[in-house]
Amino acid sequence: QKRILLIIGGGIAAYKSAELIRTIRKAGHAVRCVMTKGGAQFVTPLTLGALSEDKVYTDLFDLKDEAEMGHIQLSRQADLVVVCPATADLLAKMHAGIADDLATTLLLATDKPVLVVPAMNVRMWQHPATRRNVSALRADGIRVIDPDEGEMACGEFGPGRLPEIERIFAEIAHQLAVEHVTMTAQPDFSEPPHRPLYGKRVLVTAGPTHEPIDPVRYIANRSSGRQGFAIAQAAAELGAQVTLVSGPVNLVTPPGVIRIDIESAREMLTEVEKALPADVAIMVAAVADWHVADVPEQKIKKDGNAIPPLTLSENPDILATLAKHKQRPGLLIGFAAETEKIVEHAQAKLAKKGCDWIVANDVSGDVMGGANNAFHIITKNGVESWPDSPKDVIARKLMEKVADVVSKG
Ligand code: C5P
Repeated sequence: QKRILLIIGGGIAAYKSAELIRTIRKAGHAVRCVMTKGGAQFVTPLTLGALSEDKVYTDLFDLKDEAEMGHIQLSRQADLVVVCPATADLLAKMHAGIADDLATTLLLATDKPVLVVPAMNVRMWQHPATRRNVSALRADGIRVIDPDEGEMACGEFGPGRLPEIERIFAEIAHQLAVEHVTMTAQPDFSEPPHRPLYGKRVLVTAGPTHEPIDPVRYIANRSSGRQGFAIAQAAAELGAQVTLVSGPVNLVTPPGVIRIDIESAREMLTEVEKALPADVAIMVAAVADWHVADVPEQKIKKDGNAIPPLTLSENPDILATLAKHKQRPGLLIGFAAETEKIVEHAQAKLAKKGCDWIVANDVSGDVMGGANNAFHIITKNGVESWPDSPKDVIARKLMEKVADVVSKG
């Protein structure tokens, strides 16, 4: 059970917070509500108190509130702070760091991740002041969901409607699932926001696998995971919901990415299948081809001169399994690490694995663990070769190409 602090701003969409509270509670989480003065004009604290089964906080200067729970504590007891609906006024105050009521004081005092769901009149949303505020908040690491487009309560048409509760809750669940919550800056999306993968699910594997020999030894490879992590980050920057299944690596999780750590190839397959469905899957991991059959429970002892034999069994091919899966991702991309006849071998692999693209790279140098990479993108239509570039730059280029294809359906 997670704890959500829900801040309700003063807009007509405030009444929808009742439904949001019910949805969050149904999923088993606790909600504590804080309302701005305006919010309390649109929906009563009594209603939200009944739905959340908790006290609803409204006033910074209510001494009883302060005695019961200081505002600092209130803002830090939550796992996630959600502002819904966020008015243009709240966005401006958040950006400026104004703390003139309980809601804005909490937002300034919190050290927890903040998810903001704006809803307002279309002109207010499109006003340069609001655009600036949203960009600045995103650059501060705050997740701001774009409003829906449609007919508004005020009779106008355009972006500004509160998104469907289902979509808001999906974002909340996504934020709660993020393992290492960081307040690192999100990309400052330029206007219009360049998020062609918004709403798409992207699955990425990265790193090596460790195949145990006994409880203390394992077989591994030189993959650092840097290329896979850079791809996961680029996908998130382009707006995708990203799940990253990673082998043992020494890397920080990119902001907004759900990371699942595994050790062996068989564990990787299990987690990859659990992460389906996905619109795009990019299998960057250097998966071991074999595992040791019959791993002993105890450490193998050095016993005189006898050298213990290692009997190997084949690992499942995750990429080939996905290619035949009933929930096959719409775009399935494999990687091929080659040391010779790169394109030729990769073309053969494309056919053998049943994926849509193979990204081939020459690993004869220091690509594995290094900072740069060069790609050959092999599809059924031919080969595209990209020059040696930093791994994050080439990752971004790859994800732009993916977004291009995905948006064309
Ligand atoms: O067969 P090879 O290892 O060269 O193929 C590389 C591609 O296949 C990569 O995308 C890698 O992640 C994937 N792979 C896999 N499962 C394996 C071996 C490789 O998914 N057991």
